[in-house]
Amino acid sequence: MRSTIGIDSIGVYVPRLYLDLTDEWARTRAPVLAGGDVQKLVGKVTDGVGVRRMAVVDAHQDCATLAAMAAKRAIDAAGIDPREIDYLAVGTETTVDQSKSTAAYVLGMLEQHYGVRMADVGAPQFQFACIGATYALEAAVSRIRAGDHAKPYALVIASDVSKYPLATAGEYTQGAGAVALLVSENPRLLALEPGLSATITRDERDFFRPNWSATAVVDGKYSIDVYLDTLEAAFHAYAERVEGALGIVASRLYGAIDHFLFHVPFPRMAEYAAARVFLGQWLADAAPGGARSRLLAEVPLAGAGAGAGAGAGAGGSPAGEALQRKEVERLLAKSPIFREAFARKVNPSLALSRDIGNMYSGSLYLALASLFEQAQRPAGAPPAGAFSAGPPLAGQRIAFGSYGSGASAKVFSGSVMADYAKVTSHLRLTEELRPQAEGGTRVPLSMADYERLHALTDAELDYDGAAIDSVMQKLRDGVALAPSEVAAVAALRSAVQSPKWRVRPRGASILAPRAEFALERIGTTSSAERTDTGYRYYAWVP
Ligand code: COA
Repeated sequence: MRSTIGIDSIGVYVPRLYLDLTDEWARTRAPVLAGGDVQKLVGKVTDGVGVRRMAVVDAHQDCATLAAMAAKRAIDAAGIDPREIDYLAVGTETTVDQSKSTAAYVLGMLEQHYGVRMADVGAPQFQFACIGATYALEAAVSRIRAGDHAKPYALVIASDVSKYPLATAGEYTQGAGAVALLVSENPRLLALEPGLSATITRDERDFFRPNWSATAVVDGKYSIDVYLDTLEAAFHAYAERVEGALGIVASRLYGAIDHFLFHVPFPRMAEYAAARVFLGQWLADAAPGGARSRLLAEVPLAGAGAGAGAGAGAGGSPAGEALQRKEVERLLAKSPIFREAFARKVNPSLALSRDIGNMYSGSLYLALASLFEQAQRPAGAPPAGAFSAGPPLAGQRIAFGSYGSGASAKVFSGSVMADYAKVTSHLRLTEELRPQAEGGTRVPLSMADYERLHALTDAELDYDGAAIDSVMQKLRDGVALAPSEVAAVAALRSAVQSPKWRVRPRGASILAPRAEFALERIGTTSSAERTDTGYRYYAWVP
Protein backbone atom coordinates (compact mmCIF):
# COMPACT_ATOMS: atom_id res chain seq x y z
CA MET A 1 0.00 0.00 0.00
CA ARG A 2 1.24 3.51 -0.83
CA SER A 3 2.07 5.64 2.19
CA THR A 4 0.69 9.16 2.50
CA ILE A 5 3.21 11.80 1.42
CA GLY A 6 2.79 15.54 1.35
CA ILE A 7 3.41 18.87 3.02
CA ASP A 8 4.08 18.76 6.74
CA SER A 9 4.88 22.40 7.44
CA ILE A 10 5.01 25.70 5.55
CA GLY A 11 7.12 28.83 6.06
CA VAL A 12 6.69 32.11 4.19
CA TYR A 13 9.03 35.10 4.09
CA VAL A 14 8.31 38.47 2.49
CA PRO A 15 10.87 41.31 2.54
CA ARG A 16 9.76 44.21 4.73
CA LEU A 17 10.22 46.97 2.15
CA TYR A 18 7.27 47.69 -0.12
CA LEU A 19 6.17 50.10 -2.80
CA ASP A 20 2.67 51.55 -2.54
CA LEU A 21 1.22 51.54 -6.07
CA THR A 22 -1.54 54.00 -5.22
CA ASP A 23 0.69 56.88 -4.14
CA GLU A 24 3.94 58.48 -5.35
CA TRP A 25 4.56 55.68 -7.85
CA ALA A 26 1.21 56.31 -9.56
CA ARG A 27 1.80 60.07 -9.72
CA THR A 28 5.27 59.55 -11.18
CA ARG A 29 4.26 56.93 -13.75
CA ALA A 30 0.88 58.29 -14.84
CA PRO A 31 2.38 60.51 -17.60
CA VAL A 32 4.08 57.48 -19.18
CA LEU A 33 1.56 54.72 -18.43
CA ALA A 34 -1.83 56.47 -18.36
CA GLY A 35 -1.68 59.74 -20.33
CA GLY A 36 -1.24 61.67 -17.08
CA ASP A 37 -4.44 60.31 -15.47
CA VAL A 38 -3.34 59.20 -11.99
CA GLN A 39 -6.75 57.85 -10.96
CA LYS A 40 -6.99 55.80 -14.14
CA LEU A 41 -3.62 54.21 -13.45
CA VAL A 42 -4.51 53.50 -9.81
CA GLY A 43 -7.82 51.96 -10.96
CA LYS A 44 -6.08 49.79 -13.52
CA VAL A 45 -3.45 48.52 -11.11
CA THR A 46 -5.70 47.95 -8.07
CA ASP A 47 -8.86 46.73 -9.85
CA GLY A 48 -7.74 45.66 -13.33
CA VAL A 49 -4.57 43.88 -12.19
CA GLY A 50 -5.51 43.43 -8.54
CA VAL A 51 -2.42 44.56 -6.64
CA ARG A 52 -1.96 47.46 -4.18
CA ARG A 53 1.55 47.00 -2.86
CA MET A 54 4.68 45.26 -4.10
CA ALA A 55 7.35 43.70 -1.90
CA VAL A 56 10.86 44.93 -2.77
CA VAL A 57 14.20 43.44 -1.71
CA ASP A 58 16.71 45.54 0.20
CA ALA A 59 20.39 45.79 -0.81
CA HIS A 60 21.39 42.85 1.43
CA GLN A 61 18.61 40.53 0.23
CA ASP A 62 18.33 38.24 -2.78
CA CYS A 63 16.69 34.99 -3.76
CA ALA A 64 19.08 33.01 -1.50
CA THR A 65 18.47 35.07 1.66
CA LEU A 66 14.70 35.00 1.09
CA ALA A 67 14.86 31.21 0.63
CA ALA A 68 16.89 30.75 3.83
CA MET A 69 14.43 32.91 5.79
CA ALA A 70 11.44 30.89 4.57
CA ALA A 71 13.34 27.65 5.33
CA LYS A 72 14.04 28.81 8.87
CA ARG A 73 10.37 29.61 9.38
CA ALA A 74 9.25 26.18 8.13
CA ILE A 75 11.86 24.37 10.25
CA ASP A 76 11.09 26.39 13.40
CA ALA A 77 7.33 26.01 12.93
CA ALA A 78 7.69 22.23 12.67
CA GLY A 79 10.12 22.19 15.61
CA ILE A 80 12.45 19.74 13.85
CA ASP A 81 16.22 19.44 13.88
CA PRO A 82 17.56 20.51 10.44
CA ARG A 83 19.67 17.34 10.48
CA GLU A 84 16.42 15.41 9.89
CA ILE A 85 16.41 16.83 6.34
CA ASP A 86 18.26 14.97 3.58
CA TYR A 87 17.04 16.81 0.47
CA LEU A 88 16.93 20.58 0.03
CA ALA A 89 15.69 21.79 -3.35
CA VAL A 90 15.23 25.40 -4.44
CA GLY A 91 12.96 26.37 -7.33
CA THR A 92 13.88 29.80 -8.67
CA GLU A 93 14.10 31.78 -11.88
CA THR A 94 16.14 34.58 -10.32
CA THR A 95 19.21 32.61 -9.35
CA VAL A 96 22.16 34.27 -7.63
CA ASP A 97 24.80 32.31 -9.56
CA GLN A 98 25.03 30.90 -13.06
CA SER A 99 26.59 27.66 -11.80
CA LYS A 100 26.32 27.05 -8.07
CA SER A 101 22.97 25.82 -6.75
CA THR A 102 21.13 28.40 -4.66
CA ALA A 103 20.20 25.45 -2.42
CA ALA A 104 23.88 25.04 -1.48
CA TYR A 105 24.03 28.67 -0.36
CA VAL A 106 20.85 28.11 1.67
CA LEU A 107 22.31 24.96 3.20
CA GLY A 108 25.38 26.95 4.28
CA MET A 109 23.23 29.62 5.91
CA LEU A 110 21.16 27.04 7.80
CA GLU A 111 24.29 25.22 8.97
CA GLN A 112 25.74 28.46 10.25
CA HIS A 113 22.53 29.57 11.96
CA TYR A 114 21.68 26.27 13.64
CA GLY A 115 25.30 25.27 14.32
CA VAL A 116 24.89 21.89 12.60
CA ARG A 117 26.49 20.01 9.70
CA MET A 118 24.22 19.06 6.80
CA ALA A 119 26.80 17.48 4.51
CA ASP A 120 24.69 14.40 3.63
CA VAL A 121 21.96 16.44 1.96
CA GLY A 122 21.13 16.62 -1.75
CA ALA A 123 20.81 20.28 -2.73
CA PRO A 124 19.71 20.86 -6.35
CA GLN A 125 18.20 23.93 -7.98
CA PHE A 126 15.21 23.63 -10.30
CA GLN A 127 14.64 26.21 -13.00
CA PHE A 128 11.61 26.55 -15.23
CA ALA A 129 10.24 30.08 -14.75
CA CYS A 130 7.46 30.09 -12.15
CA ILE A 131 6.89 26.32 -12.20
CA GLY A 132 10.41 25.37 -11.04
CA ALA A 133 9.42 24.81 -7.41
CA THR A 134 6.55 22.56 -8.46
CA TYR A 135 9.01 20.32 -10.31
CA ALA A 136 11.16 20.40 -7.14
CA LEU A 137 8.18 19.36 -5.02
CA GLU A 138 7.38 16.54 -7.43
CA ALA A 139 10.99 15.28 -7.21
CA ALA A 140 11.01 15.47 -3.41
CA VAL A 141 7.76 13.49 -3.18
CA SER A 142 8.87 10.89 -5.75
CA ARG A 143 12.13 10.41 -3.90
CA ILE A 144 10.31 9.58 -0.69
CA ARG A 145 7.76 7.45 -2.52
CA ALA A 146 10.60 5.43 -4.09
CA GLY A 147 12.14 4.91 -0.65
CA ASP A 148 15.37 6.72 -1.61
CA HIS A 149 15.32 8.97 1.45
CA ALA A 150 17.46 8.27 4.51
CA LYS A 151 15.87 10.88 6.75
CA PRO A 152 12.25 11.88 7.32
CA TYR A 153 12.16 15.33 5.69
CA ALA A 154 12.79 17.04 2.37
CA LEU A 155 12.74 20.83 2.17
CA VAL A 156 11.43 22.45 -1.01
CA ILE A 157 11.78 26.21 -1.35
CA ALA A 158 10.28 28.53 -3.94
CA SER A 159 12.14 31.84 -3.94
CA ASP A 160 12.28 34.76 -6.35
CA VAL A 161 12.71 38.46 -6.88
CA SER A 162 10.46 39.54 -9.74
CA LYS A 163 11.91 42.41 -11.75
CA TYR A 164 10.71 44.08 -14.95
CA PRO A 165 12.01 47.28 -16.56
CA LEU A 166 10.76 50.50 -14.95
CA ALA A 167 7.84 52.39 -16.49
CA THR A 168 6.53 49.38 -18.43
CA ALA A 169 3.34 47.34 -18.06
CA GLY A 170 5.41 44.70 -16.29
CA GLU A 171 6.51 47.12 -13.55
CA TYR A 172 3.31 46.83 -11.52
CA THR A 173 3.51 43.03 -11.56
CA GLN A 174 6.81 42.81 -9.68
CA GLY A 175 7.23 41.48 -6.12
CA ALA A 176 9.47 39.23 -4.03
CA GLY A 177 9.33 36.49 -1.44
CA ALA A 178 9.83 32.83 -0.66
CA VAL A 179 7.79 29.86 0.52
CA ALA A 180 9.37 26.76 2.08
CA LEU A 181 7.57 23.42 2.26
CA LEU A 182 8.68 20.62 4.53
CA VAL A 183 7.79 17.36 2.77
CA SER A 184 7.41 14.03 4.57
CA GLU A 185 5.45 10.84 5.01
CA ASN A 186 2.31 11.13 7.13
CA PRO A 187 2.24 14.93 6.69
CA ARG A 188 0.26 17.06 9.13
CA LEU A 189 -0.82 19.70 6.59
CA LEU A 190 -1.65 18.34 3.16
CA ALA A 191 -1.57 14.83 1.68
CA LEU A 192 -0.71 14.95 -2.03
CA GLU A 193 -2.84 12.58 -4.12
CA PRO A 194 -0.59 10.05 -5.89
CA GLY A 195 -0.89 9.27 -9.57
CA LEU A 196 -3.12 12.21 -10.49
CA SER A 197 -0.63 14.89 -11.48
CA ALA A 198 -0.81 15.99 -15.16
CA THR A 199 1.80 18.01 -17.05
CA ILE A 200 1.77 19.93 -20.33
CA THR A 201 4.88 21.54 -21.89
CA ARG A 202 5.22 23.67 -25.04
CA ASP A 203 8.37 25.36 -26.36
CA GLU A 204 7.24 29.04 -26.06
CA ARG A 205 8.71 32.59 -26.00
CA ASP A 206 6.08 34.28 -23.81
CA PHE A 207 8.53 35.26 -21.05
CA PHE A 208 12.26 34.72 -20.58
CA ARG A 209 15.37 36.41 -19.21
CA PRO A 210 18.49 36.32 -21.39
CA ASN A 211 21.75 35.70 -19.50
CA TRP A 212 22.81 39.32 -19.94
CA SER A 213 19.64 40.85 -18.55
CA ALA A 214 18.70 41.63 -14.94
CA THR A 215 15.06 42.06 -15.88
CA ALA A 216 12.63 39.71 -17.61
CA VAL A 217 11.60 40.09 -21.25
CA VAL A 218 7.87 39.49 -21.54
CA ASP A 219 5.20 39.50 -24.20
CA GLY A 220 2.54 40.28 -21.58
CA LYS A 221 -0.76 39.54 -23.33
CA TYR A 222 0.71 36.51 -25.08
CA SER A 223 1.99 35.17 -21.74
CA ILE A 224 -1.58 35.25 -20.46
CA ASP A 225 -2.78 33.27 -23.50
CA VAL A 226 -0.05 30.64 -23.13
CA TYR A 227 -0.75 30.35 -19.39
CA LEU A 228 -4.46 29.77 -20.02
CA ASP A 229 -4.03 27.33 -22.91
CA THR A 230 -1.45 25.13 -21.17
CA LEU A 231 -3.34 25.22 -17.86
CA GLU A 232 -6.56 24.21 -19.58
CA ALA A 233 -4.79 21.30 -21.30
CA ALA A 234 -3.24 20.22 -17.99
CA PHE A 235 -6.64 20.35 -16.26
CA HIS A 236 -8.09 18.25 -19.05
CA ALA A 237 -5.34 15.64 -18.60
CA TYR A 238 -5.78 15.79 -14.81
CA ALA A 239 -9.53 15.17 -15.19
CA GLU A 240 -8.80 12.07 -17.26
CA ARG A 241 -6.43 10.75 -14.62
CA VAL A 242 -8.94 11.46 -11.85
CA GLU A 243 -11.65 9.64 -13.78
CA GLY A 244 -9.35 6.65 -14.37
CA ALA A 245 -8.08 6.48 -10.79
CA LEU A 246 -11.01 7.66 -8.69
CA GLY A 247 -13.98 7.20 -11.03
CA ILE A 248 -14.96 10.86 -10.76
CA VAL A 249 -16.28 11.80 -14.21
CA ALA A 250 -15.51 15.20 -15.76
CA SER A 251 -19.07 16.40 -15.13
CA ARG A 252 -18.57 15.88 -11.39
CA LEU A 253 -15.01 17.16 -11.10
CA TYR A 254 -15.87 20.75 -10.16
CA GLY A 255 -17.98 19.53 -7.23
CA ALA A 256 -15.21 17.19 -6.07
CA ILE A 257 -12.68 20.05 -5.70
CA ASP A 258 -13.19 22.43 -2.80
CA HIS A 259 -10.46 24.96 -3.63
CA PHE A 260 -8.71 25.85 -6.86
CA LEU A 261 -5.28 27.40 -6.36
CA PHE A 262 -3.57 28.96 -9.36
CA HIS A 263 -0.20 30.49 -10.13
CA VAL A 264 -0.74 34.18 -9.28
CA PRO A 265 1.56 36.59 -11.15
CA PHE A 266 -1.16 39.12 -10.25
CA PRO A 267 -4.55 38.41 -8.65
CA ARG A 268 -6.69 39.04 -11.75
CA MET A 269 -4.74 36.28 -13.52
CA ALA A 270 -6.27 33.77 -11.10
CA GLU A 271 -9.68 35.07 -12.17
CA TYR A 272 -8.86 34.52 -15.85
CA ALA A 273 -7.63 31.01 -15.00
CA ALA A 274 -10.74 30.19 -12.97
CA ALA A 275 -12.99 31.38 -15.80
CA ARG A 276 -11.18 29.12 -18.26
CA VAL A 277 -11.20 26.07 -15.99
CA PHE A 278 -14.73 26.44 -14.59
CA LEU A 279 -16.29 27.05 -18.00
CA GLY A 280 -15.08 23.70 -19.31
CA GLN A 281 -16.19 21.86 -16.18
CA TRP A 282 -19.63 23.46 -16.03
CA LEU A 283 -20.33 22.78 -19.69
CA ALA A 284 -19.59 19.11 -19.04
CA ASP A 285 -22.17 19.03 -16.23
CA ALA A 286 -25.27 18.52 -18.41
CA ALA A 287 -27.36 16.55 -15.90
CA PRO A 288 -30.78 18.01 -15.06
CA GLY A 289 -30.23 20.80 -12.53
CA GLY A 290 -26.46 20.67 -13.28
CA ALA A 291 -24.20 23.69 -13.71
CA ARG A 292 -24.56 23.73 -17.51
CA SER A 293 -28.19 24.83 -17.55
CA ARG A 294 -27.54 27.64 -15.04
CA LEU A 295 -24.43 28.68 -16.99
CA LEU A 296 -26.30 28.92 -20.29
CA ALA A 297 -29.12 30.86 -18.63
CA GLU A 298 -26.66 33.44 -17.27
CA VAL A 299 -24.12 33.49 -20.11
CA PRO A 300 -26.07 32.73 -23.28
CA LEU A 301 -22.98 32.64 -25.53
CA ALA A 302 -21.15 30.12 -23.38
CA GLY A 303 -22.19 27.05 -25.37
CA ALA A 304 -20.89 28.53 -28.63
CA GLY A 305 -17.65 30.11 -27.43
CA ALA A 306 -16.24 27.47 -25.16
CA GLY A 307 -13.44 25.21 -26.21
CA ALA A 308 -11.36 25.59 -29.33
CA GLY A 309 -12.99 22.37 -30.42
CA ALA A 310 -16.42 23.97 -30.48
CA GLY A 311 -15.57 25.49 -33.84
CA ALA A 312 -18.51 27.84 -33.66
CA GLY A 313 -18.81 31.47 -34.65
CA ALA A 314 -16.44 34.06 -36.15
CA GLY A 315 -16.03 31.96 -39.28
CA GLY A 316 -14.48 29.10 -37.30
CA SER A 317 -10.90 30.48 -37.70
CA PRO A 318 -8.59 29.87 -34.71
CA ALA A 319 -8.15 33.64 -34.21
CA GLY A 320 -11.90 34.17 -34.39
CA GLU A 321 -12.55 31.37 -31.94
CA ALA A 322 -9.97 32.76 -29.53
CA LEU A 323 -11.63 36.19 -29.71
CA GLN A 324 -15.06 34.73 -29.15
CA ARG A 325 -13.79 32.67 -26.26
CA LYS A 326 -12.28 35.79 -24.66
CA GLU A 327 -15.63 37.53 -24.98
CA VAL A 328 -17.43 34.57 -23.39
CA GLU A 329 -14.92 34.47 -20.53
CA ARG A 330 -15.38 38.21 -20.01
CA LEU A 331 -19.16 37.75 -19.74
CA LEU A 332 -18.71 34.69 -17.54
CA ALA A 333 -16.46 36.64 -15.16
CA LYS A 334 -19.35 39.01 -14.45
CA SER A 335 -22.06 36.34 -14.03
CA PRO A 336 -23.48 35.38 -10.61
CA ILE A 337 -22.62 31.68 -11.10
CA PHE A 338 -18.96 32.60 -11.55
CA ARG A 339 -18.78 35.28 -8.86
CA GLU A 340 -20.23 32.88 -6.26
CA ALA A 341 -17.86 30.07 -7.27
CA PHE A 342 -14.87 32.39 -7.37
CA ALA A 343 -15.63 33.90 -3.96
CA ARG A 344 -15.88 30.44 -2.40
CA LYS A 345 -13.26 28.38 -4.19
CA VAL A 346 -10.54 30.84 -5.30
CA ASN A 347 -10.67 34.24 -3.64
CA PRO A 348 -9.46 33.23 -0.15
CA SER A 349 -6.15 32.19 -1.72
CA LEU A 350 -5.52 35.65 -3.19
CA ALA A 351 -5.64 37.85 -0.09
CA LEU A 352 -1.88 37.98 0.47
CA SER A 353 -0.74 38.47 -3.09
CA ARG A 354 -2.63 41.78 -3.36
CA ASP A 355 -0.09 43.20 -0.90
CA ILE A 356 3.02 41.38 -2.12
CA GLY A 357 2.79 41.26 -5.90
CA ASN A 358 4.42 38.55 -7.97
CA MET A 359 6.53 36.02 -6.06
CA TYR A 360 7.11 34.06 -9.31
CA SER A 361 7.76 30.44 -8.22
CA GLY A 362 6.38 31.03 -4.71
CA SER A 363 3.07 32.53 -5.77
CA LEU A 364 1.13 29.23 -5.97
CA TYR A 365 2.33 28.23 -2.52
CA LEU A 366 1.65 31.70 -1.13
CA ALA A 367 -1.92 31.07 -2.30
CA LEU A 368 -1.93 27.94 -0.11
CA ALA A 369 -0.69 29.94 2.90
CA SER A 370 -3.31 32.58 2.18
CA LEU A 371 -6.07 29.96 2.13
CA PHE A 372 -4.91 28.59 5.49
CA GLU A 373 -4.76 32.06 7.01
CA GLN A 374 -8.17 33.03 5.72
CA ALA A 375 -9.65 29.77 6.99
CA GLN A 376 -8.36 30.54 10.43
CA ARG A 377 -9.68 34.05 10.50
CA PRO A 378 -13.18 34.36 9.15
CA ALA A 379 -15.03 37.55 10.10
CA GLY A 380 -15.21 37.85 13.87
CA ALA A 381 -12.83 34.92 14.22
CA PRO A 382 -10.42 34.28 17.07
CA PRO A 383 -7.54 36.76 17.34
CA ALA A 384 -4.19 36.07 15.68
CA GLY A 385 -2.43 33.16 17.31
CA ALA A 386 -5.50 31.15 18.26
CA PHE A 387 -6.54 28.35 15.93
CA SER A 388 -10.13 27.46 15.31
CA ALA A 389 -11.45 24.40 17.11
CA GLY A 390 -13.62 23.03 14.30
CA PRO A 391 -11.31 23.00 11.29
CA PRO A 392 -13.41 23.84 8.22
CA LEU A 393 -10.74 22.83 5.70
CA ALA A 394 -9.95 19.37 7.05
CA GLY A 395 -10.59 16.65 4.48
CA GLN A 396 -11.17 19.13 1.67
CA ARG A 397 -9.55 18.66 -1.75
CA ILE A 398 -7.33 21.40 -3.14
CA ALA A 399 -6.40 21.43 -6.84
CA PHE A 400 -3.17 23.24 -7.73
CA GLY A 401 -2.68 24.83 -11.16
CA SER A 402 1.03 25.58 -11.52
CA TYR A 403 2.42 27.48 -14.51
CA GLY A 404 5.85 28.53 -15.71
CA SER A 405 6.45 30.55 -18.87
CA GLY A 406 8.41 29.05 -21.66
CA ALA A 407 6.06 27.08 -20.98
CA SER A 408 4.76 24.33 -18.72
CA ALA A 409 1.63 23.77 -16.67
CA LYS A 410 1.05 21.12 -14.08
CA VAL A 411 -2.14 20.24 -12.21
CA PHE A 412 -2.12 18.12 -9.07
CA SER A 413 -4.17 17.85 -5.91
CA GLY A 414 -4.10 17.13 -2.24
CA SER A 415 -6.38 16.87 0.74
CA VAL A 416 -6.10 18.92 3.91
CA MET A 417 -5.16 17.05 7.07
CA ALA A 418 -7.08 17.29 10.34
CA ASP A 419 -4.29 19.13 12.16
CA TYR A 420 -3.86 21.88 9.58
CA ALA A 421 -5.11 24.72 11.80
CA LYS A 422 -2.61 23.94 14.53
CA VAL A 423 0.22 23.44 12.03
CA THR A 424 -0.41 26.80 10.36
CA SER A 425 -1.21 28.81 13.49
CA HIS A 426 2.25 30.40 13.29
CA LEU A 427 1.40 32.14 10.00
CA ARG A 428 0.96 35.84 10.75
CA LEU A 429 1.31 37.21 7.27
CA THR A 430 -1.77 39.39 7.31
CA GLU A 431 -0.44 41.18 10.39
CA GLU A 432 3.16 41.20 9.15
CA LEU A 433 2.15 42.80 5.87
CA ARG A 434 0.69 45.87 7.56
CA PRO A 435 2.93 48.94 7.55
CA GLN A 436 4.87 49.53 10.78
CA ALA A 437 2.73 52.59 11.40
CA GLU A 438 -0.32 50.26 11.59
CA GLY A 439 1.27 47.70 13.90
CA GLY A 440 2.84 45.53 11.17
CA THR A 441 6.45 45.12 10.09
CA ARG A 442 6.57 46.81 6.71
CA VAL A 443 8.27 50.02 5.64
CA PRO A 444 7.20 52.01 2.57
CA LEU A 445 9.76 53.05 -0.02
CA SER A 446 10.11 56.44 -1.66
CA MET A 447 10.38 56.41 -5.45
CA ALA A 448 14.03 57.49 -5.21
CA ASP A 449 14.94 54.57 -2.93
CA TYR A 450 12.85 52.10 -4.97
CA GLU A 451 14.58 53.12 -8.19
CA ARG A 452 18.01 52.94 -6.52
CA LEU A 453 17.32 49.39 -5.33
CA HIS A 454 15.90 48.44 -8.72
CA ALA A 455 19.13 49.58 -10.41
CA LEU A 456 21.38 47.58 -8.04
CA THR A 457 23.56 45.13 -9.92
CA ASP A 458 26.41 42.93 -8.72
CA ALA A 459 28.89 43.96 -11.39
CA GLU A 460 29.47 46.75 -13.84
CA LEU A 461 31.61 47.40 -16.90
CA ASP A 462 35.11 48.39 -15.86
CA TYR A 463 35.36 52.00 -17.05
CA ASP A 464 35.14 55.42 -15.41
CA GLY A 465 31.42 56.15 -15.39
CA ALA A 466 31.81 59.60 -13.78
CA ALA A 467 34.21 60.74 -16.53
CA ILE A 468 31.77 59.57 -19.22
CA ASP A 469 28.92 61.48 -17.53
CA SER A 470 30.95 64.68 -17.65
CA VAL A 471 31.82 64.06 -21.32
CA MET A 472 28.12 63.58 -22.12
CA GLN A 473 27.28 66.85 -20.38
CA LYS A 474 29.97 68.71 -22.33
CA LEU A 475 28.70 67.24 -25.60
CA ARG A 476 25.16 68.33 -24.73
CA ASP A 477 26.44 71.84 -23.90
CA GLY A 478 28.62 72.03 -27.03
CA VAL A 479 31.82 72.41 -24.98
CA ALA A 480 35.15 71.12 -26.38
CA LEU A 481 36.57 67.97 -24.77
CA ALA A 482 39.91 67.87 -22.93
CA PRO A 483 42.46 65.22 -24.06
CA SER A 484 41.78 63.20 -20.84
CA GLU A 485 38.08 63.10 -21.72
CA VAL A 486 38.80 61.86 -25.23
CA ALA A 487 40.81 59.09 -23.54
CA ALA A 488 37.83 58.29 -21.30
CA VAL A 489 35.62 57.85 -24.37
CA ALA A 490 38.26 55.56 -25.90
CA ALA A 491 38.30 53.52 -22.66
CA LEU A 492 34.51 53.19 -22.77
CA ARG A 493 34.72 52.03 -26.37
CA SER A 494 37.21 49.31 -25.56
CA ALA A 495 35.18 48.28 -22.46
CA VAL A 496 32.13 47.79 -24.66
CA GLN A 497 34.11 45.97 -27.36
CA SER A 498 35.86 43.57 -25.00
CA PRO A 499 34.01 43.88 -21.72
CA LYS A 500 35.76 43.49 -18.41
CA TRP A 501 33.58 43.52 -15.33
CA ARG A 502 34.30 44.62 -11.81
CA VAL A 503 32.30 43.69 -8.74
CA ARG A 504 30.21 46.64 -7.75
CA PRO A 505 30.10 47.63 -4.08
CA ARG A 506 26.59 46.95 -2.72
CA GLY A 507 24.78 50.14 -1.86
CA ALA A 508 23.69 50.71 1.71
CA SER A 509 20.55 48.91 2.86
CA ILE A 510 17.44 50.97 3.55
CA LEU A 511 16.77 48.87 6.67
CA ALA A 512 19.88 47.54 8.39
CA PRO A 513 19.60 43.72 8.54
CA ARG A 514 18.22 42.48 11.85
CA ALA A 515 17.41 38.89 12.87
CA GLU A 516 17.80 37.71 9.29
CA PHE A 517 20.11 36.14 6.75
CA ALA A 518 21.94 38.79 4.76
CA LEU A 519 24.31 39.08 1.84
CA GLU A 520 27.45 40.36 3.59
CA ARG A 521 29.67 41.01 0.61
CA ILE A 522 30.71 39.79 -2.81
CA GLY A 523 34.27 38.52 -3.19
CA THR A 524 36.83 40.50 -5.21
CA THR A 525 40.01 38.45 -4.69
CA SER A 526 41.91 36.73 -7.43
CA SER A 527 45.29 35.56 -6.24
CA ALA A 528 47.41 32.42 -6.02
CA GLU A 529 46.11 31.83 -2.47
CA ARG A 530 42.44 32.51 -2.97
CA THR A 531 40.03 33.15 -5.81
CA ASP A 532 36.56 34.42 -5.01
CA THR A 533 35.73 37.23 -7.43
CA GLY A 534 31.95 37.33 -7.61
CA TYR A 535 31.41 34.79 -4.81
CA ARG A 536 28.60 35.62 -2.39
CA TYR A 537 29.17 35.60 1.36
CA TYR A 538 26.07 35.29 3.52
CA ALA A 539 25.64 35.47 7.28
CA TRP A 540 22.94 35.40 9.92
CA VAL A 541 22.68 38.87 11.44
CA PRO A 542 21.34 38.57 15.00
N1 COA B 1 -9.96 50.61 -13.78
C1 COA B 1 -10.20 49.28 -13.67
N2 COA B 1 -9.72 48.36 -14.56
C2 COA B 1 -8.95 48.80 -15.57
C3 COA B 1 -8.66 50.18 -15.73
C4 COA B 1 -9.20 51.10 -14.78
N3 COA B 1 -8.94 52.40 -14.84
N4 COA B 1 -7.88 50.31 -16.84
C5 COA B 1 -7.68 49.06 -17.34
N5 COA B 1 -8.33 48.16 -16.58
C6 COA B 1 -8.34 46.69 -16.72
C7 COA B 1 -8.39 46.21 -18.14
O1 COA B 1 -9.72 46.24 -18.65
C8 COA B 1 -7.85 44.79 -17.96
O2 COA B 1 -8.85 43.96 -17.40
P1 COA B 1 -9.66 42.86 -18.29
O3 COA B 1 -8.63 41.85 -18.73
O4 COA B 1 -10.64 42.29 -17.36
O5 COA B 1 -10.24 43.62 -19.43
C9 COA B 1 -6.80 44.97 -16.88
O6 COA B 1 -7.08 46.21 -16.27
C10 COA B 1 -5.35 44.97 -17.40
O7 COA B 1 -5.21 46.01 -18.31
P2 COA B 1 -4.58 45.78 -19.74
O8 COA B 1 -4.50 47.10 -20.41
O9 COA B 1 -5.30 44.68 -20.44
O10 COA B 1 -3.16 45.19 -19.46
P3 COA B 1 -1.74 45.91 -19.09
O11 COA B 1 -1.23 46.69 -20.23
O12 COA B 1 -1.86 46.62 -17.79
O13 COA B 1 -0.82 44.63 -18.92
C11 COA B 1 -0.05 42.57 -18.06
C12 COA B 1 -1.14 43.65 -17.99
C13 COA B 1 -0.33 41.51 -17.04
C14 COA B 1 -0.03 41.97 -19.46
C15 COA B 1 1.32 43.25 -17.77
O14 COA B 1 1.30 43.79 -16.47
C16 COA B 1 2.50 42.30 -17.89
O15 COA B 1 3.03 42.13 -18.97
N6 COA B 1 2.95 41.68 -16.76
C17 COA B 1 4.05 40.73 -16.74
C18 COA B 1 3.71 39.38 -17.36
C19 COA B 1 2.73 38.56 -16.61
O16 COA B 1 2.53 38.74 -15.42
N7 COA B 1 2.10 37.61 -17.31
C20 COA B 1 1.11 36.73 -16.72
C21 COA B 1 1.23 35.31 -17.16
S1 COA B 1 2.67 34.54 -16.51
